[in-house]
Amino acid sequence: MGNPSMGDIGMTVNGQHRRAAAEPRLTLADFLRERCALTGTHLGCEHGVCGACTVLVDGQAVRSCLIFAVQADGADVTTIEGIADPQTGELSAVQAAFREHHGLQCGFCTPGFIMSVTAFLRDNPDPTDEEIREALSGNLCRCTGYQGILAAVRSAREMRPESLCMKGMSNHARKS
Ligand code: FES
Ligand code: FES
Repeated sequence: MGNPSMGDIGMTVNGQHRRAAAEPRLTLADFLRERCALTGTHLGCEHGVCGACTVLVDGQAVRSCLIFAVQADGADVTTIEGIADPQTGELSAVQAAFREHHGLQCGFCTPGFIMSVTAFLRDNPDPTDEEIREALSGNLCRCTGYQGILAAVRSAREMRPESLCMKGMSNHARKS
């Protein structure tokens, strides 16, 4: 006998429709990692503190450990796998800036930072340093000391808005 509480849900992830079974308690993070095999979304604290699991849901940066997959049924989701150009692999401006300015060491926190910063600069293309620090305060990094991350965001701030996100990112996520 099957699990009566298990139902199919569907969402667009990085421009592709995904449909899979999801019990009501399954988080969006686990749906992405386990049902979609998109393991670039990392799980650190699993209770909303570290930001490693950040993805875009209908364009908004959210902690995917804090929402259930069923709550994203029908949504447009962008993960770290959808940020670089899917055809050429060209990094987005934020990704390239993190690489250039040593904004990562072990890389565990990096997908969350990239997603948060991408949404932040899309909505606030010319932030002050104070605004950048405030925006980064929701993501934790245990390696870098944050100086490289700050330098990366300052650098990405100088780039054209359209280069912040690449073809894998939906129009909704680009403009929302
Ligand atoms: S794993 Fe989601 S905020 Fe830490
Ligand atoms: S680079 Fe290691 S936790 Fe941030």
